[in-house]
Amino acid sequence: MKIAIGSDHGGFKLKEVIKNYLIKKGYEVVDLGCYSEESVDYPDYAVKVAEAVAKGEYNLGVLMCGTGIGISIAANKVKGVRAALCHDGLTARLAKQHNNANVICIGGRTTGVETAKDIIDNFLDNEFEGGRHLRRINKIKDIENS
Ligand code: RB5
Repeated sequence: MKIAIGSDHGGFKLKEVIKNYLIKKGYEVVDLGCYSEESVDYPDYAVKVAEAVAKGEYNLGVLMCGTGIGISIAANKVKGVRAALCHDGLTARLAKQHNNANVICIGGRTTGVETAKDIIDNFLDNEFEGGRHLRRINKIKDIENS
């Protein structure tokens, strides 16, 4: 499992914590920036991670900005990306089981470290359920291709 992680300045501190958490859990993690708390623009990092996931270079993307909102909006503009802004373990579990999200987004200024770890665990420890959920994902693909 290869994971690409990225953030803007608002998500930088949480990105560092979650990056190390994922590495400790044995995942291969590549950090696509940013690399400090200097102000940057979240779409630049959203597109780096989202395109890498869409191309199949990574199995999962993890993105953070201050709220997770801007970076999820931007990531979802990349064809093939299903970016889910998760606020807790439940939204993360359902983002995998129902939406088969391939990018998860977390707010660095709105989500605490322990909740962020719970989000990661719930996402990674669950499986996509398929069935009616696959039909709905295929309808999203139809929108992308229309
Ligand atoms: C940056 O100040 C902030 O706007 C950004 O991190 C994010 O919260 C946007 O959605």
